[in-house]
Amino acid sequence: MIELRNVDKIYGEGEGAVHALKNVSITIEDGKFTAILGKSGSGKSTLMNIIGALDTPTSGEVFAWGRNLGEMSADELADYRNKTTGFVFQSFYLEPTFTVLDNVAMPLIIAGESRKSREEKAVAVLKKLGLEDKIRKKANELSGGQKQRVSIARALVHDPEIVLADEPTGNLDSQNGAEVMALLRKICESGKSVVLVTHNMEDAKNAENIIDIKDGVAVMRGKTP
Ligand SMILES: Nc1ncnc2c1ncn2[C@@H]1O[C@H](COP(=O)(O)OP(=O)(O)OP(=O)(O)O)[C@@H](O)[C@H]1O
Ligand SMILES: [Mg+2]
Repeated sequence: MIELRNVDKIYGEGEGAVHALKNVSITIEDGKFTAILGKSGSGKSTLMNIIGALDTPTSGEVFAWGRNLGEMSADELADYRNKTTGFVFQSFYLEPTFTVLDNVAMPLIIAGESRKSREEKAVAVLKKLGLEDKIRKKANELSGGQKQRVSIARALVHDPEIVLADEPTGNLDSQNGAEVMALLRKICESGKSVVLVTHNMEDAKNAENIIDIKDGVAVMRGKTP
């Protein structure tokens, strides 16, 4: 479980400061599908980045399975991220000239695994996601939907506890978007926590928990009726 207690995030200083999160206290439950729902500029990505330890609060605390992230060293935090979190972004962030296999295996280089082990794990996750015929293709030869599925494979290859997806369907047509949402649901059913950032109520309906965010104020609610 990840728990934010009284988290504030302020970008900049003085007159130009932006108060992006205001006294946010929320929990991300294990194995649940949580959506962060709000308009553009409401603070969704800021919140997701703090939940995923990509960014730190200006004040307040983040606990991950009882450990206070604010008390970890930079090395411990990097290690925590490498083991625990997988990220998916609207614009995929694949290396365009690398093969699908190399893109998916990349997080395992950071984790210090051997080439053999990296490739075995990448192939296994690509097979699971029905992408085995794309393994040798370059990322820039794929459609948007295929790219997003590859980026989801990359987010899963190191078997994280939690997958965080920031507007993952934002660059996709409705059919590919629906496929990506179904894939995220499946990942959640396989036992992982999924955090979805969206401005779209329809996508948020996939979630068991919804965090509404408006002008940096976040409120948890259960499933929509
Ligand atoms: N690095 C930054 N420096 C300064 N201000 C920032 C930074 N990142 C975000 N902000 C500001 O913080 C507020 C929240 O931004 P955030 O990106 O979290 O919103 P969002 O809900 O994800 O928006 P969108 O739906 O457009 O992606 C906005 O006012 C934004 O301009
Ligand atoms: Mg955003």
